[in-house]
Amino acid sequence: MKDQFTRTIDYIRISLTDKCNLRCLYCMPQDDEQPEWNEDVLTSEELITLCRHFADVGIKKIKLTGGEPLLRKDIVWLVKELYAIKGIEDITLTTNGMLLDEKVEALYESGIRHINVSLDTIHEEEFYKITRRKGVDKVIQGIHHALQLGMHVKLNVVPMRLNEQHIMELLVFAKDYPIHIRFIEMMPIGLGKDIPGIPQEEMMHKIETMYGKLQPVHDQIGYGPSVYYHVEGFKGHIGFISALSHKFCSSCNRVRLTSDGFLKGCLQYNKGIHLKEIVRSKDEALLKEKIMEAIYRKPKAHAFEEEDVEHVENREQKLMSGIGG
Ligand code: GTP
Ligand code: 5AD
Ligand code: SF4
Repeated sequence: MKDQFTRTIDYIRISLTDKCNLRCLYCMPQDDEQPEWNEDVLTSEELITLCRHFADVGIKKIKLTGGEPLLRKDIVWLVKELYAIKGIEDITLTTNGMLLDEKVEALYESGIRHINVSLDTIHEEEFYKITRRKGVDKVIQGIHHALQLGMHVKLNVVPMRLNEQHIMELLVFAKDYPIHIRFIEMMPIGLGKDIPGIPQEEMMHKIETMYGKLQPVHDQIGYGPSVYYHVEGFKGHIGFISALSHKFCSSCNRVRLTSDGFLKGCLQYNKGIHLKEIVRSKDEALLKEKIMEAIYRKPKAHAFEEEDVEHVENREQKLMSGIGG
């Protein structure tokens, strides 16, 4: 369906849990400041009911996110059930990769073909500094395993001053594989607002200095906001997701569902509709009406560029791990 600004909304990002097995410093607090988890999350049966309604109003693509979605025990069963819904064409996954190696074969069997792996560095010590956990080798093993199965893999890298020193090693790693590597500008959400990111232009300059001209790619790759370039010698493309320097809200095609059933119009605002109680009440007509209302009322654009993000009206207070990216 279309929202109030005539944008076609056919993509939903579903957070399966706000828990995570990493503690990336722009996303989650340190261990001694445990966030309050959403314990009463939607069951998989409830998610399936909701997705039937989403499909009825025109949603075709589902992105499963977290926290870390692979922590959800019934994910493989869930994916199979979601694929059985008429109208759902593609289900993709965004993961930190820690459990990928052990789960990727079952995921492949469930029908998943596209996996995005968040990886800000392949340098062991830097990985620990950023995620406060060990395990970069497990993530890399998971990526290789997914590639061996013929999965399409994208890397999500948030460039910061913190990982700047080893950032080009990610390109060296990706170059010889059919991997699209995307550089994401840090957004002032949750803990991210206090961590300086590296803007797109600066990253492009670094890449061109090392590898030569970035040539624009016009094919549609995935359903997200990334803009892709090609560099000679790379098997995959290089993408940029730059919500600040290259705002993409006018072509936004998506809404978000948090693990406790809040249907959100935009990443930056806490505006939306709580669906958990409605789905539990079994009032399917009301459910459909509220879903359509939340989609229709999707906000026009984010306001990340405002100097004082803290004072943006209806600003989202959740951590990124609770929104799902
Ligand atoms: P595909 O390319 O289809 O796999 O989708 P994607 O790039 O949207 O998925 P992914 O989950 O890998 O997200 C990559 C980054 O894009 C994350 O940092 C998200 O927070 C960000 N992102 C995705 N959608 C939006 C959006 O609507 N607005 C903003 N500001 N950022 C988004
Ligand atoms: N700004 C940009 N990207 C972020 N992510 C998490 N927090 C932020 C932020 N503040 C990214 C993660 C992951 C994706 C789902 O979102 O690195 O790749
Ligand atoms: Fe976990 Fe992803 Fe947040 Fe890192 S960015 S703590 S991997 S949810």
